[in-house]
Amino acid sequence: MLKRWQKELGKRIENGTFRTLNPKAEGIDFYSNDYLGFARSKDLRELILMEISQHPECLSGSTGSRLISGNTAYLTETEKYIARQHGFSSALLFSSGYQANLALYSSLPGRHDIIIADEQIHRSVHDGSRLSFAKKIRFRHNDTGHLEQILEQKPGNCLIAVESLYSMEGDLAPLEQIAALAENYGAGLIVDEAHAFGVFGHGLVGQYGLQDKVAAVVITYGKALGMHGAAVLSTDLIRNYLINFASPLIYTTSSPDVQWVSIKAAYNFFSENRHIQQALKDNIRVFRQQGLVTPSAADSPVQAVIIPDIERLKSLQKHLADLGFLTYAVYSPSVKEGTERLRICLHSFNTEAEIIRLCEIIRESA
Ligand SMILES: Cc1ncc(COP(=O)(O)O)c(C=O)c1O
Repeated sequence: MLKRWQKELGKRIENGTFRTLNPKAEGIDFYSNDYLGFARSKDLRELILMEISQHPECLSGSTGSRLISGNTAYLTETEKYIARQHGFSSALLFSSGYQANLALYSSLPGRHDIIIADEQIHRSVHDGSRLSFAKKIRFRHNDTGHLEQILEQKPGNCLIAVESLYSMEGDLAPLEQIAALAENYGAGLIVDEAHAFGVFGHGLVGQYGLQDKVAAVVITYGKALGMHGAAVLSTDLIRNYLINFASPLIYTTSSPDVQWVSIKAAYNFFSENRHIQQALKDNIRVFRQQGLVTPSAADSPVQAVIIPDIERLKSLQKHLADLGFLTYAVYSPSVKEGTERLRICLHSFNTEAEIIRLCEIIRESA
């Protein structure tokens, strides 16, 4: 096996896609998921500290799985609060979005069921699906015609997996059409709102009023909310099913309550600071006015510039970093070969001058 590992790594070094863990760089942030700047907010930090000082026990370890000794009143109360915030009957918290997707896709579909996933769905959905015995079929990205073709041919139970805002392309799913298809064909729909939550209010499912049309929604807290963790929003039936059958919830120590304290404080901060969402929207508009060619949606905080020439992409990203602009170059296998890209994340705290200069440098490099 050693030889194989060396060979695979060697290939990556050769084609310039070898990954390393680097210390956080200093510079202008155009690459993090901290869309609203909550992770850098001193005010939010103060709020969390106040909460912690009232509940210092939240800093201690949870001592076990939620099914044994790791469940607390604070955690279950927070879940009720989150469910109310999103207009769902129930919420179930997880330590991360990755774990939430593993839980859903490993446990909900049975042996003869089918998971129909958008081809650009997050890796955690694929990994979760592999832990189930269900068959997985991909449909072309955002192609409702292709999705319907698959649904027509599949008489069994189907779960459709989509994101509302895609993290690599920065485009939106046609959620209303997909929800209508799911309803027509009696399929369950699971929507991952990792990147939409906080950018579009409490998420696009809520904005379109689709709460009754989806089986479950995944909300993650490591992006616009500036924290860490995730919630599955659904019905009491699905919540109970996950508690009984989802290994990623059952066979792991529950997070310490401090994680839920931070999330709850961030929800409150979010409600009280709606103007920050507007600042992000304004910055997205400034970026779009610069006229770079992108497949991303006009109102998305993720804007992709496709540069399939890997050497050119690498040198542009490095050139930007040398000038203090932190962006992220995405290579295959994270995206399809030939669609490598510079991924730009816009934030409420970026300045107009920074955005204009960033776009100028990218244009000059073409
Ligand atoms: C669409 C999507 N779903 C799920 C996740 C996983 O969430 P977390 O980072 O909380 O594990 C991510 C994060 O990369 C994501 O982009």
